[in-house]
Amino acid sequence: MDLGLSGKVAFITGAGGGIGRETARLFAEEGMAVAAADVRLEGAEETAGVVRRLGGPALAVAVDVTSEASVAEATGAAERALGRLDVLVNCAGIYRIGGLDAVTPAAWDELLDINLKGTFLVCRAALPGMIARRQGSIVNLASISGRTRSTLASPSYVASKAGVIGLTMSLAVQCAPHGVRVNAVAPGPVDTDMIRGLEPSLQEHLITTIPLGRLATAREVAQAVAYLASDAAAFVTGETLNLNGGAFMV
Ligand SMILES: NC(=O)c1ccc[n+]([C@@H]2O[C@H](COP(=O)([O-])OP(=O)(O)OC[C@H]3O[C@@H](n4cnc5c(N)ncnc54)[C@H](O)[C@@H]3O)[C@@H](O)[C@H]2O)c1
Repeated sequence: MDLGLSGKVAFITGAGGGIGRETARLFAEEGMAVAAADVRLEGAEETAGVVRRLGGPALAVAVDVTSEASVAEATGAAERALGRLDVLVNCAGIYRIGGLDAVTPAAWDELLDINLKGTFLVCRAALPGMIARRQGSIVNLASISGRTRSTLASPSYVASKAGVIGLTMSLAVQCAPHGVRVNAVAPGPVDTDMIRGLEPSLQEHLITTIPLGRLATAREVAQAVAYLASDAAAFVTGETLNLNGGAFMV
């Protein structure tokens, strides 16, 4: 299937992380240019290196998605270096487990600021250019936790991901008349540092909830992101694509 992504420019937040890096790798294989953005610049640089080794133009840029000024600086630098932004993938995020007792107001703010407000701020910075050119596609990282009963994730994480799904639908409606699509993916547990950081017994418990009997790979999530970003999904907007090995079905 020709995804029609060749020659397009992507801005990926959380690009130093597992899903962000695999998305950058797949985009480079498809012939795209990639701005790899992360609060950990060294992680973004490593990802930009992956893209360059595959022959793609790449830029590594530091960004704190919770800061409007930092987001403006990073997206502006990417537009100047790579010409424009055609695709935005919001991967920056943090994960917390536990019940209400573990969520102090400060911990709530920290998580919601990164996972939800950060997604909003980067969409807000990227959209004017996309709307002006009547061309663009945004893919947000939601989670199975934002769609159904969650056993491990903290209430703050669950709320942030449900918020990302709502934000995706709202922006999709507002952007559709301008030729810009906004979608999300909702992965179940994925084999990245986010899950590898859990105790082995919790990882094993998660796997027992998945009919396919294993974690998703970051590559599998990247393939879903690439589909939604591409012309193959030209009539898909406001959608949240489940990707969970059968753990949750509607
Ligand atoms: N791994 C999973 O099981 C899973 C499942 C569902 C959804 N997700 C979501 O997918 C996204 C990517 O997750 P991952 O598994 O690649 O995690 P990861 O921990 O490997 O990567 C997350 C990246 O986000 C970056 N980041 C954190 N705070 C930031 C900030 N303020 N500004 C910019 N960057 C920041 C980190 O430095 C890191 O590189 C997250 O939104 C996560 O919630 C992950």
